[in-house]
Amino acid sequence: MKIAIIGAGNVGGALAGSIVRAGHDVTVSSRDLAKARTVAEAAGGRAAATNRDAVRDADVVVLAVPYGALADVVDELGDGLTGKIVIDATNPLRADYQGLAIEGISAAEQVQARAKGAKVVKAFNTAFASRQADPRIDGVQADGFVAADDEPAKATVLELVGAIGFRPIDAGPLEAARALEALAFLNISLQLRNNGAWQTAWKLVGPLSV
Ligand SMILES: NC(=O)c1ccc[n+]([C@@H]2O[C@H](COP(=O)([O-])OP(=O)(O)OC[C@H]3O[C@@H](n4cnc5c(N)ncnc54)[C@H](OP(=O)(O)O)[C@@H]3O)[C@@H](O)[C@H]2O)c1
Repeated sequence: MKIAIIGAGNVGGALAGSIVRAGHDVTVSSRDLAKARTVAEAAGGRAAATNRDAVRDADVVVLAVPYGALADVVDELGDGLTGKIVIDATNPLRADYQGLAIEGISAAEQVQARAKGAKVVKAFNTAFASRQADPRIDGVQADGFVAADDEPAKATVLELVGAIGFRPIDAGPLEAARALEALAFLNISLQLRNNGAWQTAWKLVGPLSV
């Protein structure tokens, strides 16, 4: 698949590398073309000069920007997202990291409300960038939770999550992104309390179904 990653930071860089290793064609864009080039070249992908250029031919778009930039990025991409799978990897954190900035809704649902023609999927947000780069810990696969309303889009992203090395888990409809964003915040707050190494990941133990 052709996958555009918007944002060339911790998440953009980690996912660019693991998605290229999974055999996909990755294009990275950011505010700064030089940064996008550095990240894309390190991963084995290419850089695009603008966010709109990055998504033009993409099958899947990954939003890997700070929550504060999310609305502007989605509006800028506009009809460029129509019909595409849009993975929201963001977490709507408060600036002081002491909680989530929004209640009763998720960032992913906000993206869907702004980009009505897109197939928005929540994924990757519960894993730190270190685990997005390498989801296996001592041979154990971290869980990769995926939430979406569009079932074919969700199936595609579950496959991508698995191809990178996570154990893919269907977390339900897009509304479940509210729980996934809270789960991400819990992992972050545990790291902050424990002088963390930012390597922890969620793993359900026990059988998921009978
Ligand atoms: N870090 C993690 O472990 C982790 C894990 C899961 C989810 N997340 C979430 O993923 C998102 C990204 O996190 P991160 O740690 O990768 O952040 P980051 O390192 O700060 O990177 C964010 C990237 O987005 C770029 N950006 C900002 N505004 C943009 C715009 N208008 N157009 C294009 N690119 C833009 C930034 O460019 P500049 O460098 O020019 O500012 C930077 O390259 C956040 O929502 C975060 O909560 C993070």
